[in-house]
Amino acid sequence: MNIIKSAFGEHAKLFTMINDNGVQLAVTDFGARIVHLNVPINNERRELILGFDSAEEYIAKDHYIGATIGRVAGRIANGSFQLNQTNYQVVKNENDNTLHGGPDSFEMAYWQSETDISDNKVSTSFTHTSPNQNNGFPGNLTVKVTYTLDNDNVWQVSYEANSDAMTLFNPTNHVYFNLTGHPAKSVADHMLSIDADHFAPLDDQNLTTGEQRDVSQTAFDFRKAKKVNEALISVDPQNQLVGGLDHPFLLNQATDSDIPQARLVSPDQKVAINMRTTAPSVVVFTANFGDDYQLPMRQEYLINHGGITLETQVAPGAEKYPAFGNIVLPANEVYQATTRFDIDI
Ligand code: GAL
Repeated sequence: MNIIKSAFGEHAKLFTMINDNGVQLAVTDFGARIVHLNVPINNERRELILGFDSAEEYIAKDHYIGATIGRVAGRIANGSFQLNQTNYQVVKNENDNTLHGGPDSFEMAYWQSETDISDNKVSTSFTHTSPNQNNGFPGNLTVKVTYTLDNDNVWQVSYEANSDAMTLFNPTNHVYFNLTGHPAKSVADHMLSIDADHFAPLDDQNLTTGEQRDVSQTAFDFRKAKKVNEALISVDPQNQLVGGLDHPFLLNQATDSDIPQARLVSPDQKVAINMRTTAPSVVVFTANFGDDYQLPMRQEYLINHGGITLETQVAPGAEKYPAFGNIVLPANEVYQATTRFDIDI
């Protein structure tokens, strides 16, 4: 087990964690972000996620890729919510709504880092305090994100947080998988399964509506593994609306089961990711950036559907629809959540 530290642009650092099987998980303090997940397959190495080469590149191209997202992942309609009978207005950064905690949130911060190496696992922790009223959210909120890699090829992300005033908190990690090893290939031919009987439909602003829709007889039924492509080519108005998937799947809550809550398999079946989480849902986004994506992305990422996220969290909109789960963090209470990705090689 080892951790190699290196520069990641002008101010950021990269921590490359390596286990005894040669699996490499690299994370940076810029946005407490995952940058590489690189594995040996036969005699070759394969990169399993999308990432860039420096903090500056993320700033210039897409600052959400691989990042820790918060304070509240997803969209808050009109940037407004009620907490403890008080109305809050937070900063909007996507039309009339607040996306991923508003502008310059967790993904743009330089976090404090700490590493730990033991016999069977390595970890890198990042800590950040979001000050009271940051983007309008109440409470000084301290968040610690720990990435762990062990010798069973498990990559785990765990969150711990507390705030000195009641606030909203619903973090996630915005990793994009592409198990082909070629970011210029679409994820269409990956096999995906998700243990979810229901998903949350969206309106024309990509906001959840509170509805929990049965997946039966829809392209959202991944209870048996099928190709991601079935959702990409689907004529279901929900798929057409976003050009693929950008939806919360409401998990059937079987964290203690042997069956993973989501499983993604490479088209050549040489590698798979098994996901298990303490969160009640997973937002699956198939990088529906379109064929004419105008962001100055690295050329090979210009492709539509070049990655797929498994963003574990309470479904967006929970501040309005409590049936999705609780995202209220009371003052001085400890928040904890964990997601593990078993890398099957
Ligand atoms: C996802 C969100 C997408 C898009 C993306 C960032 O979590 O659901 O609609 O905004 O983040 O590019």
